[in-house]
Amino acid sequence: MTDTKKSIHGEWSSRFAFILAATGSAVGLGNIWKFPYITGENGGGAFVIVYLLCVLLIGIPIMMAETMLGRRSRQNPINTMITLADEAGADKNWHYLGWMGVIAGFLILSYYSVIAGWASAYVLKAFTGSFFGADAVAIKGLFDGFMASPVQLIFWHTLFMLATMLVVVRGVNTGLEKAVRFLMPCLFVLLMLLVAYAMTFDDYYDKGIKFLFTPDFSKLTANGVLTAMGHAFFTLSLGMGAIMIYGSYLPKNVSIAKTVYLIAGTDTAVALLAGIAIFPIVFAAGLEPAAGPGLIFQTLPIAFGNMTGGWLFGILFFVMLVFAALSSSISLIEPAVAWLIENKDMSRQQACIWSGSITWLLGLGTVFSFNVWSEFKIFDRTIFQLLDYLTANLMLPIGGFCIAVFAGWIMKQQHTEHELDMPDALSYKVWRFLICYVSPAAVFLVFLHVVGVL
Ligand code: PHE
Repeated sequence: MTDTKKSIHGEWSSRFAFILAATGSAVGLGNIWKFPYITGENGGGAFVIVYLLCVLLIGIPIMMAETMLGRRSRQNPINTMITLADEAGADKNWHYLGWMGVIAGFLILSYYSVIAGWASAYVLKAFTGSFFGADAVAIKGLFDGFMASPVQLIFWHTLFMLATMLVVVRGVNTGLEKAVRFLMPCLFVLLMLLVAYAMTFDDYYDKGIKFLFTPDFSKLTANGVLTAMGHAFFTLSLGMGAIMIYGSYLPKNVSIAKTVYLIAGTDTAVALLAGIAIFPIVFAAGLEPAAGPGLIFQTLPIAFGNMTGGWLFGILFFVMLVFAALSSSISLIEPAVAWLIENKDMSRQQACIWSGSITWLLGLGTVFSFNVWSEFKIFDRTIFQLLDYLTANLMLPIGGFCIAVFAGWIMKQQHTEHELDMPDALSYKVWRFLICYVSPAAVFLVFLHVVGVL
């Protein structure tokens, strides 16, 4: 592989552009919508600790591996696996790993877009003053009424999918990069303000903070551990090729390790801030932490409806949330789009129309699982719950496991060493130990725990 090789889709204009894009991919609904509600469902502190450990021991090493694979081959994840397996003299079947990633991207985006549609609808609700002076009961009524309307959910899902495809169609430099440049810092500031607001509650520390940070391991089930691990993959966009494809647009001279620490650190900080902002409101309003996917939509509007300046604040918050979701959704579909362009000779437009339409159609399953099909269950789960479980808890960890095995055991050591170009020999050794033993073993042990062997 030559060092001058570039992706046919272009390249990030700088290291900073890659950081923004990869952080944009990582920070999204996962941090602000999903992290609080799954933490609530799984009892708080102990769940948070397992999640943090997974980010550190599994997420960060695998993120470095995924970025490295992408940059070495400069192609979509499927072709990357073919090329690199070939280079290492390994079996062709590794390309199925790329395929699983592309499919996971479709499945995730199909429900991600529906939830991002909720956030978009809440921009309008904030704007029209729907939250003004409302209490917990009124806000829950608003949310339940919205969920009961497939037409409204489809409308917002459609709008969000169109927005995603509009950005993706413009390509790496023009579309993706510009979209994330300003949004990430703004979101961060708004979250800090929300945390400051949450701190004004009496029970801020005793209930909110303690719930998040005091571990009670008796509340954590085997499935809770799996959810925490799956979420580490989901929130860092790992195991499906999103970071791999972004890595393939990464200029040669950039340090992968330092960049990854920064991205993972920011992502984790945003999730914790979201938790710190949301749980005091949950307890102050007498709500259930285990309220499920509606949690932030049933809590934050109460705050916006009752605080000074809440009208503007509410609008800004949901706008930022939509943009955070958008900068993630584009990375969910980019591997498929790149594959269609590289392998099927499609133009970027054609590739976007195809992949966008399929995802949109799949998304209807999620829309209906909140209303007309809410009683329809497979393995005791609605379509939305099934998609979420299948992707976040199974496909991403399995994908990540295989990436770790590939980077640690299949690729030649001199290649990984050269590509990662760590600042010192010890850092490389630590990474190698984690990727060869710790990360794959941890994923494997969690799976054994869930099936009851451990
Ligand atoms: N990381 C994104 C989030 O937290 C979701 C995502 C998962 C994006 C997988 C790309 C790949 O919202």
